[in-house]
Amino acid sequence: MKILFYDTKPYDKDTFECQLPHFPGIAIDFLKTDISPRTAPLAKGYDAVCAFVNSNLGKETLTVLEQCGIRLLLMRCAGFNNIDLETAKSYGMTILRVPGYSPEAVAEHAVALALTVNRHLHKSYIKVRENNFSLVGLMGFNLHRKTAGIIGTGKIGAATAKLFHGFGMKVLAYDLHRHPDLGFADYVELNELLSSSDLISLHCPLTDSTYHLINKDTIEKMKDGVILINTSRGGLIKTEDLILGIRARKFFGVGLDVYEEETKNVFEDRSDEILEHSVTARLLSFPNVVITSHQGFFTQEALDAIAQTTLSNAKGYETGNVVSGNLVNP
Ligand code: NAI
Repeated sequence: MKILFYDTKPYDKDTFECQLPHFPGIAIDFLKTDISPRTAPLAKGYDAVCAFVNSNLGKETLTVLEQCGIRLLLMRCAGFNNIDLETAKSYGMTILRVPGYSPEAVAEHAVALALTVNRHLHKSYIKVRENNFSLVGLMGFNLHRKTAGIIGTGKIGAATAKLFHGFGMKVLAYDLHRHPDLGFADYVELNELLSSSDLISLHCPLTDSTYHLINKDTIEKMKDGVILINTSRGGLIKTEDLILGIRARKFFGVGLDVYEEETKNVFEDRSDEILEHSVTARLLSFPNVVITSHQGFFTQEALDAIAQTTLSNAKGYETGNVVSGNLVNP
């Protein structure tokens, strides 16, 4: 099987090449460019393409891939809201993903963001480098005995709930399904979670029903001085409303690994560019907001698991032994 790999970063190439010897019969060509209607024709002659979480897999791209004879999309990520599933289905394309490569990687990053905004580590790092050892403006609050609200208690939400529980926090949870490991958490209605939590962490997927789940109304229901963390998907938060909430001093801190405008930024070095009309720049102007660049998944263990599962998915497709849980479109 010949796979064309789009949007390759050096760490992708390293980890996939490490795993390749365990998958004889699979060959990969690595492209730096990401997939788009213009670059999709390069897939002609390949059996599958491998793409990532922010790749453009809309109707136009899929149509070109279909014309190139591609029937298999290998997503080296968990999320798939960037794919036009109806179009893929109409072309009979199989989409395989890596649903749970390392929930702990993302959960630990959510906690890192919460601790950073709570204890102002982003500020103190810079202050101390400038020989400013004053503590003014750096006061946080104990997480111990406070309440963490976890929205979405699947694999990552559950791992995050366990970590916050380990800090001695009371854990409130909101999900359509209860997670069997979270006996310590109280499942409540969304409104109760919003109004009772000192820290809210988002872990549900982006769907029609969760799009802009955090908006003017839901922000109003939150406690004053709440910490909000999003490591799930940018579209869960209506950014304009978040900015209004930040200006109204609603939040103690906001930690975002994902945000609505991220697609152009993610994994790119734009340090020499002037960002025009940018909500990213507006968010970054607030002292109590910390943004990271969709790096929640980015640990060695997670990358190894992603490469291993992606190549197993390719092998499974070839041999007719697909793991059904990895199918995006069963
Ligand atoms: P999962 O499928 O194990 O869990 C998602 C949970 O959300 C499920 O329990 C589901 O019942 C719940 N849910 C669905 N709709 C809901 C709603 N309307 N209200 C409340 N709960 C709802 O997924 P997993 O692996 O925990 O991943 C969660 C999300 O994390 C992914 O969808 C993805 O967007 C994001 N993610 C972020 C990464 C990063 O690097 N920042 C890396 C991997 C995933």
